[in-house]
Amino acid sequence: MAENQKTVFKSVQELANENQVPEKYIHTQGSINSSCPMLNVPVVDLRLLTSTARKQELNKLQSGLKFCGCIQVINHGLADSFLDKVHEISKQFFALPAEEKLKYARTVDDIYGYGNDSVLSDKQKLDWTDRLYLNVFPEAIRNLKLWPQKPECFREVFEEYINNMKLLSESLLKAMAVSLNLEENCFLDQCGEGREMIARFNFYPPCPTPEVVLGIKPHADASAITILLQDKEVEGLQVLKDDQWFRVPIVPYGLLVNVGDQVEIMSNGIFKSPVHRVVTNADQERNTLAVFIMPDVTDGIGPVEKLINEEMPRAYKDVKNYVELFFQSYQHGKRPIETAMICQEQD
Ligand code: OGA
Ligand code: NI
Repeated sequence: MAENQKTVFKSVQELANENQVPEKYIHTQGSINSSCPMLNVPVVDLRLLTSTARKQELNKLQSGLKFCGCIQVINHGLADSFLDKVHEISKQFFALPAEEKLKYARTVDDIYGYGNDSVLSDKQKLDWTDRLYLNVFPEAIRNLKLWPQKPECFREVFEEYINNMKLLSESLLKAMAVSLNLEENCFLDQCGEGREMIARFNFYPPCPTPEVVLGIKPHADASAITILLQDKEVEGLQVLKDDQWFRVPIVPYGLLVNVGDQVEIMSNGIFKSPVHRVVTNADQERNTLAVFIMPDVTDGIGPVEKLINEEMPRAYKDVKNYVELFFQSYQHGKRPIETAMICQEQD
């Protein structure tokens, strides 16, 4: 099996070292602009949520998620020195020899483990990124064989990080509900006790032809919400707003929180799941860590009743297994959330 893996697997890192950009990575429609305007992503101070300034901060959170589908959060309880360690384990893992990393290689038809972009359709352009994709919660679904043992502190640091992300995601989902005058558990309850958390380390090697290659092609996340630890120094993430691409700024030691398709549905479209992409650059590598909160697939989700009224009719159907729907529409080149939308004509 391991031999088999090696013959099919070529990491983007290897391509970068050989200065090769295969055709599958090249976008032929237009040049990719990496110097578009900066998006003014609101910075929400989570410490203020427990102070007398709570109302004001909740308003900022709400307006940010309506305005661009994302916010930067600071004072989230994770120390700068600890986030430095998280950056380090990611860098150190991808810097290991190929042979060591391949111990955690994903199989061809699975997304979990270390690998490059999964090929879902023939026409698909590939992302200029190597990934380490890990299942983290509930603990029962962890596949520890895929959790690196090098660098030595990987598991310990990672575990502390994801435990923090679990708590943070719960407070964020509560704050999001309260900001809309809803009962605080209404998003969290829809995510369910069996909700999953998935972590993805993204490693973007420098690319010899950044004007025609993307680190990640445009997509919106299938999650309820996503929490992203951006690279501390190297930009790359862009968000589409009003049909225009904007750069997402780096807030040192802040975390970027974005709405995923499933909270867009739960909020009946008040919060929008932003389409985003990652651009590459010719001389610096970039490391990020995304944590996706995925609602339990057995119960399904739908717009919160209190958000459906005459002024704002129900805009989405209830959906059961959104992730399955997500991958099906992906193959047809459609935005997955369109499948859940109720067309105006049908009302
Ligand atoms: C993702 C993603 C952005 C980044 O992993 O879904 O959008 O900057 N990542 O790595
Ligand atoms: Ni994303």
